[in-house]
Amino acid sequence: MAELCDRHVFVIFGATGDLTRRKLLPSLYRVVTENGVADRTAILGVSPTEMDDAAFRALAWEALEEAGFEDVDAHAWCDERLFFETIAREATDYAPLADRIRAIERDLDMPGNRAFYLALPPVAFPGVIENLGRAGLNESGGWSRLVIEKPFGKDLRTAQELNYLVHRHFDEKQVYRIDHYLGKETVQNLLTFRFANPLFETSWNRDRLEAVEITVAEDLGVGTRAGYYESAGVLRDMVQNHLTQLMTLVAMEAPSGFNADAIRNEKVQVLESISGIDPHHVIYGQYTAGEINGESVVGYLDEQGVAEGSKAPTFVGVRIDIDTWRWQGVPFFLRTGKRLPERTTQIAVTYKPAPVCIFHGKADACPISPNVVVLTLQPDEGFEVRFEVKSPGTGGVESKAMYFDYEEEFQQLPDAYQTLLFDVMTGDQTLFVRGDEVEASWRLWEPILQLDDHPVYPYAAGTWGPAATNESLALWTDEWTMR
Ligand code: BG6
Repeated sequence: MAELCDRHVFVIFGATGDLTRRKLLPSLYRVVTENGVADRTAILGVSPTEMDDAAFRALAWEALEEAGFEDVDAHAWCDERLFFETIAREATDYAPLADRIRAIERDLDMPGNRAFYLALPPVAFPGVIENLGRAGLNESGGWSRLVIEKPFGKDLRTAQELNYLVHRHFDEKQVYRIDHYLGKETVQNLLTFRFANPLFETSWNRDRLEAVEITVAEDLGVGTRAGYYESAGVLRDMVQNHLTQLMTLVAMEAPSGFNADAIRNEKVQVLESISGIDPHHVIYGQYTAGEINGESVVGYLDEQGVAEGSKAPTFVGVRIDIDTWRWQGVPFFLRTGKRLPERTTQIAVTYKPAPVCIFHGKADACPISPNVVVLTLQPDEGFEVRFEVKSPGTGGVESKAMYFDYEEEFQQLPDAYQTLLFDVMTGDQTLFVRGDEVEASWRLWEPILQLDDHPVYPYAAGTWGPAATNESLALWTDEWTMR
């Protein structure tokens, strides 16, 4: 029996925007139908666009059709459960908004539970939060939850200011900061992999491990988002949030329970135990023209909207040392970039070599490779364990692997947004970033963000970043470990 959520109004700010159309509406439809809660949810779209309920419903039909839902039920859901309110985002608009929410609650017999989802550019966050608070929409007879899209601040100071504003009006228990990587099934599986399998967890430490590598590679370029990317760059866009989340999930200690605060406490501890990142261990790159999947693509500087001579990095490789009893001496290598040869997210955990090699003549090099666990988070979700076997008929040793393929076992995996939206509806904060956690992450990356004139090396699109990466990071081996 699926879990049910309380009856509620789900208010989307930025209801006519791209995120709502591409992600939120299709995911909301999947969430409510798959969990049998369609009659427990009313969606109220909000934006400055002049539009009525009928026009918003038509927009939603299109969005659902584009996502592959063409059935009558999807149309009926839009007609019965979707509403729209035009507000210009002035403080005075929030009283009519509150009235509209109450009217919907009255008509649909809802007890006053509300989620406010800010699918907006970050500059709009403070105004909306302030106005929600002033209009008393931060509390109600039921619950009131605030969902904030990334980026949460653009450095430590702005993140602190935003937290301060949020906490003036909302208690942390009401706040859901989105990092969509946490909604990915395979990212969540990291905790199960580690803490439900003593086989791996008992060796997940400095006694047994040599290094951890985290790769988030994208084959796409910056696309139409140069306006944002020029000031964000790769560190703000991918590392401060997604890669940092992956690192903390790999490195955290076992939580005291499987609940939001216990898990988030341990993640914060990881961030706080990193004493700093050596700037010499940070290498930036920017893609130049090249070839991806046999097609020529332009360099970053020739993308639409990119400033002449821009130094915005589109690749970063970094080495992090975590100063805890578990991790001291086990380097973490992180890399991410746009226009790399393929789209893949992988975590490779390499074990120390056998202490003594008995499989070779005195003059020969030891033929044994270390054991490796490679967790592939996308696109071919699963993991592999590499181990050594005897080559039949010879005295040789070969590396082989055991594979687990998520989709083969479980078929289709839920979309990240689907998971996160249902968690908002049911009040589970586990997969959302806590206020102190987001600040701890900015605190870690702040000194690197402040480096002036840190070199940005060119790399041809379709390659794995600047040639100097491995040497600069003092990668523990010749090549990154990939599946
Ligand atoms: C977003 C970044 O947060 O994540 C994008 O802003 C990036 O630049 C995207 O492309 C990657 O997400 P995914 O889920 O495709 O790996």
